[in-house]
Amino acid sequence: LDGTPGELDVHYAQLAARWKTSDRTADYQKLVIPHGNNGEPLHRWFHLKEAFSSQLVDRLLKDSDWHPPRRHLRMLDPFCGGGTSLVSSLEWADNRAAIPHVVGVERNPMLRTVAAAKTAAALEGKALGARLRRVLPTLSYEYDRQLRVAQSTPSATLNNRKYFSKRNVTALLAIQKAIALGSTSESYEQAVLQTCLAAAVERTGKLRRDGRALRYEADRKPQNPWKIFESNIAQVLQDLDSMVPRPTAWKADVLEGDARAVDRIVGSRRFDWIVFSPPYPNNIDYTEVYKVESWVLGHWIDTADMRRQRLGTLRSHPSIRFPDTYAYMDGKLSEDVERLVSPLIAAIPDDRYAAGREQVIRGYADDMLAVLDSCRKVIAQDGFLTYVVGNSVHGPKSGTLVIAADLLIARLAELVGWHVEEVRVARMLRRRGCESPYLRESVVVLRPSDC
Ligand SMILES: C[S@@+](CC[C@H](N)C(=O)[O-])C[C@H]1O[C@@H](n2cnc3c(N)ncnc32)[C@H](O)[C@@H]1O
Repeated sequence: LDGTPGELDVHYAQLAARWKTSDRTADYQKLVIPHGNNGEPLHRWFHLKEAFSSQLVDRLLKDSDWHPPRRHLRMLDPFCGGGTSLVSSLEWADNRAAIPHVVGVERNPMLRTVAAAKTAAALEGKALGARLRRVLPTLSYEYDRQLRVAQSTPSATLNNRKYFSKRNVTALLAIQKAIALGSTSESYEQAVLQTCLAAAVERTGKLRRDGRALRYEADRKPQNPWKIFESNIAQVLQDLDSMVPRPTAWKADVLEGDARAVDRIVGSRRFDWIVFSPPYPNNIDYTEVYKVESWVLGHWIDTADMRRQRLGTLRSHPSIRFPDTYAYMDGKLSEDVERLVSPLIAAIPDDRYAAGREQVIRGYADDMLAVLDSCRKVIAQDGFLTYVVGNSVHGPKSGTLVIAADLLIARLAELVGWHVEEVRVARMLRRRGCESPYLRESVVVLRPSDC
């Protein structure tokens, strides 16, 4: 292989030939994006551009023809983000003879709060709404009091007056303090209120979350934080009031942790279904994109704290310098992994980003190998795993590099004891100047290989 894109396509074609591939774009293309979530109770509480549709879980379980073997649905999402798959699995279990126990793991503290709030709401419904109503008078009283106290934050973005006015920052921080003082820490009321605050932040300044970056919008008119916060609470209460509590045997846990060591986080628990969408190797740094919300919620005490959390995320982007060490290189799979990634590395366009791209490819492969190995340890013998991932294009127009994450992950999975049942093409992606058939988003189904 001499590094031309044609050679890389041959590599991808050889990989793809190992497994059954089907075109499922008609069924899946709207389900691998958050289509419809803004109109759905609970799912509409926080808009996450990278989320699944609330309808995806239902479709995936239908397509798997899966029936709860022990009347339980023990489900794990090790990259649970805002918790779409967790809430959808609880919704799926309604009117079925299945008792769900869903577990989500997430690194980002703000997204974890959102997932915890939504899953608690899905279980408790009205009862959580009633508790929330009880804390609202104290909240409003504390907010007025906190407005008169000087508020400060170490966030350079919030302190940049081009992006946020001093008045709005004071109001956002006063709401956060009021939430902390007006509700018990770690209570679900607190998580719900923090979600309402996080969902208000973007509209109070001049920055728009735009996939991989925060974009300055000079013409945007920032809105009053308390007003948006209040209207978010009203929407939350409307959703909760319409929901009856689900049976107490149903369980949901949202845990802090690293998907690369998920077996250590969940201990002796085993799962019938693992479903996830990992960060794609496409430059989206979730810590960066959702940092303003995290600062407002007080999740980091200083920038070193933020950096620590960022370094603990998957090596899917070059925004920070991750350790240049790769566990696979010292293990028995080093030759197989090297064979898998070297055609990609040979095809990296020769520009000033080349070294960073090589680190992303190696780091991503290393991390996903750890994730799949860890998931393999906690899957039930008759369980299965579904992942959703998008491929991406890198480099200037003259030498574009497509990273076919769907195929890379499938091969890594084989190396650590998974059988690849099917690669379902969910959506073709369009990028100017790139015609690759591998520019797509896929749903891939794995089963433990020795069952
Ligand atoms: C594509 S998003 C998942 C979105 C989710 N499916 C939803 O519907 O909300 C990937 C998530 O992985 C999280 N993440 C990144 N590195 C992680 C790690 N090492 N362990 C656990 N989660 C991580 C990111 O913070 C992000 O929320």
